[in-house]
Amino acid sequence: MDFEVLMQPHLRNVKPYVPGKPIEEVRREKKFEGEIIKLASNENPDPPMGEVKQAIIDEIDYINRYPNSGSYYLCREIAEYLQLDPGQVFIGNGSNEIIDMLVRAFINPDEEIIYPFPSFIVYPIVTQLAGVKAVEVPLIDYRLDLDAMKEGITGKTKLIFICNPNNPTGTYVTGKEIERFLDGIRDNILVVFDEAYYEYVTAADFPDVLSLQKERKNLIILRTFSKIHSLSGLRVGYSISHEGFVTCMHKVRQPFNVNRLAQIAARAALKHVNLITGRIKENRVQLDYIRNELIAMGFTVPSSQTNFILVVPPDGCTGIVDKLLGAGIIVRGMKPFGLGEESFRVTVGNAVENKRFIEAIGKLV
Ligand SMILES: Cc1ncc(COP(=O)(O)O)c(C=O)c1O
Repeated sequence: MDFEVLMQPHLRNVKPYVPGKPIEEVRREKKFEGEIIKLASNENPDPPMGEVKQAIIDEIDYINRYPNSGSYYLCREIAEYLQLDPGQVFIGNGSNEIIDMLVRAFINPDEEIIYPFPSFIVYPIVTQLAGVKAVEVPLIDYRLDLDAMKEGITGKTKLIFICNPNNPTGTYVTGKEIERFLDGIRDNILVVFDEAYYEYVTAADFPDVLSLQKERKNLIILRTFSKIHSLSGLRVGYSISHEGFVTCMHKVRQPFNVNRLAQIAARAALKHVNLITGRIKENRVQLDYIRNELIAMGFTVPSSQTNFILVVPPDGCTGIVDKLLGAGIIVRGMKPFGLGEESFRVTVGNAVENKRFIEAIGKLV
């Protein structure tokens, strides 16, 4: 039996999400004996804070029970932290789940979704899953082209993704640029600001979308505990929006979409949020180190407000991603992202990992 024939036609050509290579796979494929470092998925190199770990351990005795269905306490605590109404917060199994869910909840078959390209690879995937028209707007100088995105709006546009800072380039658009962009946009278009890397941002002119959202009910902000809070493996993210949006999202979510350990860990991370300041500073120090070293070697590296950088090798420099793999260092090749055959994205690791990465790449160029 051919299952693809049974499948819904618009889903047959969907290209599944390809994650960064897991460490165990590289060890097996490359028969690499030494320590392998993974700088491919924009994860935090450090484990969760001790207080967060303890909260997870304490919760383990209760995992025979279902979690709180709507993540009630976590919603309240995020709302308190951001000085919002609890009804404005929705929790997902990673912010990824919220992206998927909002497309399922709001997009009709004849509507259109606008997103930048290259950007977070999940936007094209969810658009294909919905079977609707994608309006992909190329970046300019590695940054979102907001004017072109606005020009892409038609009577059928229902959703616009603004990835800020943008993955995989690390670049950002400013508050002024966003205000200009929003000016005149119909209020029945959902504008989703994906701020997965928000906590790493140091730029003073980064948009304050939380404030803008108070006036404009069609803005939705996505954030996550996967990055600065070191909780990628537990899957917990959230949206901030008008309450009406949250009501709709509860209608389409699975009954227990966020597990017990994720909820308790995220609550503990928020309670001890002051502890991450040092990690944010260290990320900046390490990012500047690898970026400056790579620029000195002749690579093009756009300025980044995140925990990763995009690296574009000079002409004639080929096969770096594979050669790094051979040295036990996993980075993410950017070939499918249309940023050139040889470009790659590297996550900021800890000081030891970054030094090893720079030394390895120094030997290749
Ligand atoms: C821009 C962007 N949005 C969303 C996500 C998904 O994050 P989560 O782990 O919360 O699903 C990522 C993860 O890499 C990302 O880069």
